[in-house]
Amino acid sequence: MRVIKKIAINTGGGDAPGLNAVIRAVVVSAINKGYEVVGIRDGYNGLLRPEDYPEGGLMHLTRRSVRGITHLGGTILGTTNKGNPAKYPTMGPDGKMYEKDRTDELIAAFRKNGIDALVALGGDGSLGIANIISEKGIPTIGVPKTIDNDLDKTVVTFGFDTAVSFATECIDRLHSTAEAHRRVMVVEVMGRYAGWIALNSGVSGNADAILIPEIPYDINKVAAAIRERPKRGKHYAIVVVAEGALPVGGSASVVSRELGRAEKLGGAGERVAKELEPLVDKECRTVVLGHLLRGGCPTTFDRLISLRFGAAAIRALDEGMSGVMVALDPPTVRYVPLKDATRRMKVVPLSCDTIRTARDLGISFGD
Ligand code: F6P
Repeated sequence: MRVIKKIAINTGGGDAPGLNAVIRAVVVSAINKGYEVVGIRDGYNGLLRPEDYPEGGLMHLTRRSVRGITHLGGTILGTTNKGNPAKYPTMGPDGKMYEKDRTDELIAAFRKNGIDALVALGGDGSLGIANIISEKGIPTIGVPKTIDNDLDKTVVTFGFDTAVSFATECIDRLHSTAEAHRRVMVVEVMGRYAGWIALNSGVSGNADAILIPEIPYDINKVAAAIRERPKRGKHYAIVVVAEGALPVGGSASVVSRELGRAEKLGGAGERVAKELEPLVDKECRTVVLGHLLRGGCPTTFDRLISLRFGAAAIRALDEGMSGVMVALDPPTVRYVPLKDATRRMKVVPLSCDTIRTARDLGISFGD
């Protein structure tokens, strides 16, 4: 077995609160075990596009470089959701863009820079790449990051709790203005094709309707639920819409599809507001929380699991593991094969207790 001396860490895909906490835990616990640590800038671009980094595509990480970052949002390494090395957008000789597999080049760059192992922080896309890197011979450990919480085989991903907490706070603030104007406030939240953020913030924030990708909605049923409210003395409504929500027989609102990156979603909230307004005889206004959900300091819960995930990733490498993801399985963390974690998306199970609770409380899903 190859002896590990130098460990690289990278952050890929959309940023999520807690990334810096994981980086700090990885760096400090690795140094304490005698390893050297480098950070790859902007996903894998620091290695694949060294010409773009006059200061170097790798950051040498010391205790000092990670001091005081646990509570900070973003990532000191930078990230990208356009740099999938297995599908790298590349210009062909005919001037057209195509997707190129650059994973062998990446492995060669690891070897050239003396990198013996990798800790990859990412969502399903980034951890799929981590799995390829592991299969190509670089010991690799994945750490589950995403505000969407759509990664399988872990109870939760880091970043999700912060996103839900902020979305709930925003919904709380919208109640008073919605009530003052007797309006319907439609709140669109991120989450891609999973409804976790919408469901958890909608129930916690006392929404009247929650529309999630797992339950295609009928706008007439949403409207009927809202029309009932005044009979109980409530003259306004809050509708939380996941960005991936879709009407029965329709599809999600896709803004664009670009080479080498996931589909961009947007407009689900506006679509609901537009269709709802004539049916409820109330002004319907839309608020898109969007990237605000990715910003700010991680909650205590996210900080703690991030630190636990980071330290557990180094323990895994130290014990000779590879091709696994650190997963939360309270009260402990465990390791699951990256292949299993990335096989399918974790969507909201329709039988889950949060959906049942919402229904018991009279919240409509438009079904
Ligand atoms: O996966 C995290 C996420 O924030 C999704 O909820 C959202 O659809 C997407 O990233 C947005 O990505 P971008 O930063 O490219 O707009």
